[in-house]
Amino acid sequence: MADPATFDQLAAVIRNRRTSMFVDEDTEVPAALVEQLCGLAMWAPNHKRTWPWRFALFQGDGRRRLGETMVADMIDADFGDEGKRVKTAGKYLRTPATLVVGCAPHDNEMLHIENRDAVAAGIQNLLLAGTSMGLATFWSTPALTKPPRVLDLSGFDPDDRIVGIIYLGWADRSCETPERPPVELTIVDS
Ligand SMILES: Cc1cc2nc3c(=O)[nH]c(=O)nc-3n(C[C@H](O)[C@H](O)[C@H](O)COP(=O)(O)O)c2cc1C
Repeated sequence: MADPATFDQLAAVIRNRRTSMFVDEDTEVPAALVEQLCGLAMWAPNHKRTWPWRFALFQGDGRRRLGETMVADMIDADFGDEGKRVKTAGKYLRTPATLVVGCAPHDNEMLHIENRDAVAAGIQNLLLAGTSMGLATFWSTPALTKPPRVLDLSGFDPDDRIVGIIYLGWADRSCETPERPPVELTIVDS
């Protein structure tokens, strides 16, 4: 049975989610809460039930270690100039929790693509659930998506790839809402 109130609540959470790093830097995001969000990510649709998502939470000094490790990978890959490397070294400290979300590969080309789709859908679940709890969330793409040292530090396999680095913290300010263009929907009914 349709429940308009549930629809309205869900629509509000979807519209209220913002890509934001306006957070209270001094209040931690408990690991147990992040684990709950990861659990909700795993309710995303997943073709062939390959369960491709991988999660690694960096908090406290772990965030510094993530930055240093990413920089070591950038140096190994001869990627980025000194300025970019310095910025990367400190960027994961901007929110109390930084979540690396990875994706397992697949031998089948289509399933390899679909695994990433499932992880992306999972990230959106996570962002929405976080928004509903009062968290500010920020999905970013890392400089390198297959950084060997970061994959290892995250406890992922060497062939996994990173789909997003998600910054999480308790929202302490609202931010501008980028308007969406109007819906364009083709309807074919005959
Ligand atoms: C796959 C993906 C990667 C993204 N990577 C970045 C990023 O590296 N840096 C950034 O500033 N925003 C990143 N974003 C966030 C978008 O910039 C943001 O969603 C967009 O500006 C719309 O704002 P909103 O999410 O508040 O509606 C990413 C979003 C997605 C879906």
